[in-house]
Amino acid sequence: MNKDYIMPNEWSIIEEGFNDENVKASESLFSIGNGSMGQRANFEENYSGATFQGSYIGGIYYPDKTRVGWWKNGYPEYFAKVLNAPNWIGIQISINGTELDLNTCKVLNFKRELNMKEGWLSRSFIAELSSGEQVEVNTKRFISVDFNETGAIEYHIKAINFSGEIIFSPYVDAGIMNEDTNYDEFFWEILEIVEGENSGCIQSKTLKTEFHVSTAMQIQLALNNKEISASHKTIVEDKKLTYTYIVEVNKGDIATIYKYGSYATSLNYKIEDLNSASLSNVQNAKELGFEKLLETQIKSWGIIWETADIVIEGDVKAQQGIRFNIFQLNQTYMGTDARLNIGPKGFTGEKYGGSTYWDTEAYCIPFYMATKDASVAKNLLMYRYNQLGKAIENAEKLGFKNGAALYPMVTMNGEECHNEWEITFEEIHRNGAMVYGIYNYVNYTKDFDYVVKNGIEVIIAIARFWHQRANYSAAKDKYVILGVTGPNEYENNINNNFYTNYLAKWCIEYAVDCLNKVKHNYLEDFKRILDKTNLTIEETYQWLKVSDNMYFPFDEEKQIYLQQDCFLDKEIIPVKDLPKSERPINQKWSWDRILRSCYIKQADVLQGMYLFEDRFSKEELERHFDFYEPITVHESSLSPCVHSILAASIDRMPKAYEQYLRTSRLDLDDYNHEVHEGCHITSMAGTWMSVVQGFGGMRVWEDGILSFNPQIPEEWKSYSFTINFRGSIIKVYKSQTECKFVNKSDNEVKMLLNNKEVLLPPNKLFIV
Ligand code: BGC
Repeated sequence: MNKDYIMPNEWSIIEEGFNDENVKASESLFSIGNGSMGQRANFEENYSGATFQGSYIGGIYYPDKTRVGWWKNGYPEYFAKVLNAPNWIGIQISINGTELDLNTCKVLNFKRELNMKEGWLSRSFIAELSSGEQVEVNTKRFISVDFNETGAIEYHIKAINFSGEIIFSPYVDAGIMNEDTNYDEFFWEILEIVEGENSGCIQSKTLKTEFHVSTAMQIQLALNNKEISASHKTIVEDKKLTYTYIVEVNKGDIATIYKYGSYATSLNYKIEDLNSASLSNVQNAKELGFEKLLETQIKSWGIIWETADIVIEGDVKAQQGIRFNIFQLNQTYMGTDARLNIGPKGFTGEKYGGSTYWDTEAYCIPFYMATKDASVAKNLLMYRYNQLGKAIENAEKLGFKNGAALYPMVTMNGEECHNEWEITFEEIHRNGAMVYGIYNYVNYTKDFDYVVKNGIEVIIAIARFWHQRANYSAAKDKYVILGVTGPNEYENNINNNFYTNYLAKWCIEYAVDCLNKVKHNYLEDFKRILDKTNLTIEETYQWLKVSDNMYFPFDEEKQIYLQQDCFLDKEIIPVKDLPKSERPINQKWSWDRILRSCYIKQADVLQGMYLFEDRFSKEELERHFDFYEPITVHESSLSPCVHSILAASIDRMPKAYEQYLRTSRLDLDDYNHEVHEGCHITSMAGTWMSVVQGFGGMRVWEDGILSFNPQIPEEWKSYSFTINFRGSIIKVYKSQTECKFVNKSDNEVKMLLNNKEVLLPPNKLFIV
């Protein structure tokens, strides 16, 4: 893809001019979704050039048989993939017998816009067909936030230089394959094709997982903005339902097709009701009409932006970047359904299988917690709570016992999908993130009831895991954790990864703290929990032996914690001394060279210090930052945000800004040359954190006190963001000269500002 082809704009992503090299990248960048479903920005009309067609439905997945070079005991049998779902957007178009296909005609004035403020995607262009006809096309499409099974398309064609016939052939195509199948298999079975009057649907079911999906369309036509009734011919193929409408036009006429599409799935309906549900969705959408549907869409996005927006003055590209991140996060997850989660590529591609990673707990929860109602973050926690049984089974398969849980590295339904030993078996630090997610939520919301009712069971099962996973080393007279991979995946099978050991120790301590709290304040629940989990106080003493005596590799001379045992045996050469031609090392170097090198893929020791920053002094943070930042290559999208936040908290604003830039326009400027595969959704939450926690310095630690330490990059005039803190909406504004807070609630809010206590009066502006 060509870099820099996205026009800077505060509220929209805009592409001008048609370049076939950008098609796949734009299909990712201009994706639309509503948290329940989403689709790449594929053209409605057929396109014979290179394209990656993708429509996805949250929670509908397929267990694709695992493909590995060498099977290891304990590998999962399958990798669950988000399914490329039936396509309801397609409209084949023919003009006086010639197909409209941007790959074969001359395209002028091409413009594509993703309007993030209002939640719609549009395209306009003039096409000159090989047969000489010229048409002007204007389209608009959105996936409704209010009616979350429904989407709508408006497609206008103006006959510029001809009279004749325009044939619209809208279709539902259920013959869709995943791009990333392991064995080129088709994952759907087609059950029924139903024809109706200007509407129709196909019911299909996924093989093995047996999710049933009914995909419907409803058509409406207009000529020069007046509805026309048109009869259609029907073509029923194996896996496809097409209606063909002929519209006679005179030169200058505008023919319009409205197409409403819907999925109804067996996640939400009885199988026998699916077709009537999808058909009534599209019928209702048609009755409401495109304009009305769009009006509700605009209103709903307005409400989302009220608490989610970050405004940056003085840097349009930064403004566009941050809004793009916030928009995509909302398109991926709205938080109303605890069965859904946030895939690293959301609904924009298939890589990473659309599955759930530790990204959710380590990166995404803070964003959803602060920009939405507390119930949203709670749903994310409930997702893991509901999968606890599977996490216990997963640990049992690997030889753990007594209710110890190992949450999967990658999952759809709680079962592990990942199948590289160094990650599946070794990247166990993910278990710590599950507990951190709960801790973070409780600190922020004060909803300890969640721990009492649900969270404690997860916390106990994970404490049990760490207790069993560590072993006593007689040589060190300490507990050690051997054979792991830390967040830095550029080295495997290491011993005593600082991050992993730190989380293990902390998880046990937090488990015991929570149990004590429950015992003192909720005695009945305490008894219930001991009974349900078969836990005794003696068992917790055994855990504490491990946490009290955990080993951490430390270098006395440098006074730093080492990422793992023997880290300093490596040849330490800063990244800046590597020739540019050798970067990124994961594309330029052999894997063994990477493994032996000192280079760190993503924040590791620093990730730990970020999560527990309140437990380290500023000098310690500086020392560790100065050692690890120069050898970190940030080849994971999850890395720069953490370094940006830490840099801001040790007053290194230029460094914080440099790292911020890497994260905020990662996809828009395609830093990693891979945006055609989809966007990096989970790291977008990290970008939000870089502003709110990094520049804004927002923190809420265990004492539950909200605190800020706002700073501003030299390059910006001002920035502002809003948070929902325990129901109080607080707006924070920082310019080069001023700092202001608005407490838009009826409650006084106590907070720390630059370490001093401040009371924010209700419904008032507070100028610092
Ligand atoms: C990162 C992991 C992350 C995964 C999905 C990998 O490249 O190293 O930490 O969970 O991507 O985002």
